[in-house]
Amino acid sequence: MSDSIPTTTSGYRIDLKAGSFDGLHLDESMPVPALGADDVLISVQAVSLNYRDIAMPLGLYPASARGDVVPCSDGAGTVLAVGSDVKSLKAGDMVCPTFFQDFEDGYATKESRATSLGGLNDGVLRKHAVFKEKGLIKIPDFLSTVEASTLPCAALTAWNALFGVGGRALEPGHWVLTQGSGGVSIFALLFAKALGAHVVATTGDKGKEQRLKDLGADLVINYRENPTWGRTAMEFIEKQGGTGAQHVIEVGGETTMEQSLKAVAPEGLISIIGFLGGSTAERKTGFWDCFASACLVRGVLVGSKKQFRDMLSFMEDNGVRPVVDERTFKFERAREAYEYLEAQKFFGKVVIEVQD
Ligand SMILES: NC(=O)c1ccc[n+]([C@@H]2O[C@H](COP(=O)([O-])OP(=O)(O)OC[C@H]3O[C@@H](n4cnc5c(N)ncnc54)[C@H](OP(=O)(O)O)[C@@H]3O)[C@@H](O)[C@H]2O)c1
Repeated sequence: MSDSIPTTTSGYRIDLKAGSFDGLHLDESMPVPALGADDVLISVQAVSLNYRDIAMPLGLYPASARGDVVPCSDGAGTVLAVGSDVKSLKAGDMVCPTFFQDFEDGYATKESRATSLGGLNDGVLRKHAVFKEKGLIKIPDFLSTVEASTLPCAALTAWNALFGVGGRALEPGHWVLTQGSGGVSIFALLFAKALGAHVVATTGDKGKEQRLKDLGADLVINYRENPTWGRTAMEFIEKQGGTGAQHVIEVGGETTMEQSLKAVAPEGLISIIGFLGGSTAERKTGFWDCFASACLVRGVLVGSKKQFRDMLSFMEDNGVRPVVDERTFKFERAREAYEYLEAQKFFGKVVIEVQD
C-alpha cells in the first residue's frame, strides 16, 4: 500500500448498552481492510446526522442495531483507491455510500434491508472506509461534500415518499403537508416547491416559521400553538380550491397521525416515515380513521440506488441544494453534534466535517 492508503484510521463506535451518548467512543486505530477486487476505499469528508442516529443510543430506535457499530448512515467522501474489477469509479471521485448497500431498484426486501449502514452494519462516522462499488453512488460536481453528505437517508426518504408510488407521484399544483423543520421534511419542502407544488409546513418553534416561509412554504402552522393543525391545513387548502394534501410527510408518528388524517385529500397518500413525537398511551389512530379519510397509507423505507440517481438528476436540473444548519461540527467533537440534534434547535441538516 502507498503512503496515501492507510491501514488504520480514526472512527467512532457506539456502545448501545450505555443507553446515552456516553456510549460514543473514538477508536484511533480502527483497521482499514485490504481492498478486494470490487472494493473502493474512500476518505470520508462529511457526515450528516439523522434522528435515527440519536434514537439508537437513546434506546428509542424501533428496529434492531448491532451492539458496537460504527454509527451514521449519511456521509460523503472522495475515492482514494479502487479494486481491480471496479469500473464505474476512480480515485478523486466524490461519492456517497447508499443507505442500503445492496438495493438497486424496486421494493426493499428482507435481504436489502439487512444491508443498511450505521445500525446493522458499520456506518460512516470514520475517516476512511471500504465499501463495495455497488454500495456507492457518484455525486455530481454541483454539490459540495457537506451538501452531498445529507442525501443518502434524509433526502432519499423524502424523494421516495413523494415520487415512489406509481400513479401517486407528486405533480405541479398538488399540496404537500410537511411536519417540523428536520431533514426529511425540509427536503420534501424543497422538492415540492421545485416541482411547482404547494406546501403547508408545521413547526413547533416560532423562530423557524419565517425560515420555512423563506423556503417557499405557502402556509406555516405552529403545532404547539395549534393542536388541530391538520384541520387548519385542510381549511386553508380548501380555500385555495384544493381538496386536501395529496402527500403527507408523516414524521411525527402516533402523536401526529390523527391530524395528518384531517389534512389528507381523498385518495391522497400519507407516507409513514418517522416517530419523532414518541408514543402515546391515549387513543391510537388506526383502522377507522384511515377508512374515513379514504386515503392511502404507506410505510417508507429510505429508497433504492435508482431513486437516488433520479433524485440527483432532479436536484441538478432544478438547482435544489440541501439546507445545512449554520453550525457544523469537527470530527473530534461529534458528541456535540449529537447533543445539538437532540436539542432540536437546528434547521435542516446537522453536519460533522470529518477531514480537517
Ligand atoms: N422510514 C424511513 O425510511 C426514515 C428515513 C428517515 C427518517 N426517518 C424518521 O423520520 C423522522 C424524522 O427524521 P429526521 O432525521 O428528518 O429528523 P430530524 O432532522 O431530527 O428532525 C427533528 C425536527 O422535527 C421536528 N419535530 C420534532 N417533534 C415533532 C413532532 N412531534 N411533530 C412534528 N415535528 C416534530 C422538529 O422541528 P421543529 O423545531 O420545526 O418543530 C425537530 O427539529 C424520525 O423519526 C426518523 O427516524 C425514517
